[in-house]
Amino acid sequence: MKYLQWTVATFAALFLAWPASAGKTVIPVETANTQLVLVAQENGVLQTVHFGAKIADPSAFAAFRTGRGTDNGEGPMTYPTTGGRYIGEPALHVKYADGYHNTELVYAEHRVRANGNVVTTEIILKDPVTLLEVKLCYDAYQKENVICAHTEIKNAGKKPVQLLNYASGALNLDADQYYLTHFHGGWADEMQMDGELLKHDTKVIESRRGTQVTQCSNPSFLVSLNAERLQENVGEVVAGALAWSGNFRLSFEQDESGRLTVLAGISPFASAYELAAGKTFTTPDFIYTFSCKGAGQASRNLHAWARNYGVYGGGQINPTLLNSWEGAYFTFTTETLLRMIDDAAAMGLEMFVLDDGWFAKDYPRNGDDAGLGDWEVNSAKIPEGIDYVASYAHQKGLKFGIWIEPEMVNPQSNLAHQHPEWVVQSPGRELYQSRNQWVLDLSNPAVQDFVYGIFDNTMQLAPNIDYIKWDCNRIVANFGSTYLGKDQDRFFVEYAQGIYNVMRRLRAKYPDTIVQCCSSGGGRVDYGALKYFNEIWTSDNTDAFTRAYIQYATNLIYPACVMASHVSAVPNHQTGNVTPLKFRFDMACSGRLGMELQPRNLTEGERALADRCIRSYKQYRDLVFTGDVYRLASPYEGDYYALMYVSQDRRRAVVFTYCLKYQNRAVGAHVFRMDGLDPARQYKVTELNVNRSSWWGSGQVHAGDFLMNGGFNPVLLKTFDSGVFYLEAD
Ligand code: GLA
Repeated sequence: MKYLQWTVATFAALFLAWPASAGKTVIPVETANTQLVLVAQENGVLQTVHFGAKIADPSAFAAFRTGRGTDNGEGPMTYPTTGGRYIGEPALHVKYADGYHNTELVYAEHRVRANGNVVTTEIILKDPVTLLEVKLCYDAYQKENVICAHTEIKNAGKKPVQLLNYASGALNLDADQYYLTHFHGGWADEMQMDGELLKHDTKVIESRRGTQVTQCSNPSFLVSLNAERLQENVGEVVAGALAWSGNFRLSFEQDESGRLTVLAGISPFASAYELAAGKTFTTPDFIYTFSCKGAGQASRNLHAWARNYGVYGGGQINPTLLNSWEGAYFTFTTETLLRMIDDAAAMGLEMFVLDDGWFAKDYPRNGDDAGLGDWEVNSAKIPEGIDYVASYAHQKGLKFGIWIEPEMVNPQSNLAHQHPEWVVQSPGRELYQSRNQWVLDLSNPAVQDFVYGIFDNTMQLAPNIDYIKWDCNRIVANFGSTYLGKDQDRFFVEYAQGIYNVMRRLRAKYPDTIVQCCSSGGGRVDYGALKYFNEIWTSDNTDAFTRAYIQYATNLIYPACVMASHVSAVPNHQTGNVTPLKFRFDMACSGRLGMELQPRNLTEGERALADRCIRSYKQYRDLVFTGDVYRLASPYEGDYYALMYVSQDRRRAVVFTYCLKYQNRAVGAHVFRMDGLDPARQYKVTELNVNRSSWWGSGQVHAGDFLMNGGFNPVLLKTFDSGVFYLEAD
């Protein structure tokens, strides 16, 4: 309410003052602390003159001059197009029916409306020659200091046009130096943080994989201004992400003036999009935030927005679970599952998830070479049916979840024989297999119906299925659709839209089902998917040591509530690493905790530790799901990884510390500086899940300022030593 009053009052005041200045219109898009200032110049060109800390009276920008000549191209255009004097990478490149490529957009009007915490600004730009209309839409989340921008491109002309580039938006930044942090990786190695000082010309981060688009790079970034590295607590940082689960492209172009233009959008790769007369194309959201307190505040802004708006069911606490995959793989019977359920219940877990291997009769899914597409229960394995297993879990007080991979088909399946035309393909070209499977063509509405049906029918296998793990285990090759005919250019865009169509329908019918987005691990980690999915399977890599790097980087952009993190067996099945069970728990507990092993293989002592860790997690996990993150040490920079989550009222917190490399005795205990606490409050600090604490101060009460500026130095010297500390103030 406070924000509503504030914004209404502010905007009323601004409207009176700003359009009056010398033929220019100043349009501020602002949140509580940040501001994007756009100015429609006398010639109608819309330019971005500021993105950063909030300026009380941005009307001064009406008189602002860049001081640069126009001979070298147009200035910082808010939505740069091919045409006019602009010679940089365009956000919008249109080819018209007459073969010409120029678009010059002129400011027509704008409107602002406030709806509680969200202030929406819509700016209409028009090309008087081609009649193309562009609506720039900005949702400014006041409290979270996040802006979501998308663009609506309307062909108001009489002939179809081709959209060759159609980015969601552009961000123009002006600094002396730009340090870009981005993410690369591969299977079981997603979200590896990488960075570089941007030089002149263009750096591009792009995915052309069709599916699994985020396995090797992520549509997100952080740019540190006037800095040579990403800093946690100081410096100006712009962080952004594209909400799109298909091919994407981020570009960072530093022109000769030193300005940086960041474009984020759907990849134009093989995707010239024909827009018929009268039709509108809506781009995905480009989400961004500005922080003058380093990466930490940028993450907290994005996370707060994600919990409140960006993630399906964000802010909700999801159950701990035992997943059958690494404990049973394809080899199980009903009996195996019931015993796993018994063990999960006995350990205090809250859900059992039956992973791959439960389906297909004629081509039973006993390995990854058969069965995908035939989604009936394999009665040879589970003669009693899914209902029996689910009811058993429910009787034991557990929720029940099940795995599907609805976008895929094995050649060895009835589906492949019945609907060969549904497979992604290109005439005369090899149908390459990957993990022995083909991709179904989600650009085809009939396939969308089929995929919807897989989820819907699976939900009918038992009365109360609480959770679906939606997987997607390969990329697209020889792309093409029998449905699209000559419109193959639409394939990649309509595939991604197809997933969203299906998810929209499913969410209307199943609003409460928890749905995990998995794609061989983190192959579909983006805010487009998270509009419909509650969580991600962060990585198939369950090794707690290498997970430190994946989780640290994932959490720069995505909140901990979406990061599924499981304790698995050692030697780890992916990396071969052997880490202590406590270290594995402590790592998994910094996200959504699960287990993924055969509990029968644990010793009595290990079971006791597991029970203890699960019990304590339940006491503090609301902090992991809804608290603010403060990172205390980066695995990328030193020998420790440490982070904490602090409750919104700053009364409670949980701190996770991990030693990743042996420290010799002379080094002694590393001093971590906690953060986000109330300096004046007294916190009781308790190390959890140990009989003897690693910190001299555990069990005692300490002032917030001591913990933040003094000496929190648990003795964690051996590789894979770790500690979890719970803080509570009166
Ligand atoms: C993918 C997932 C795993 C598991 C297997 C099952 O690799 O990422 O978690 O579900 O498929 O085949």
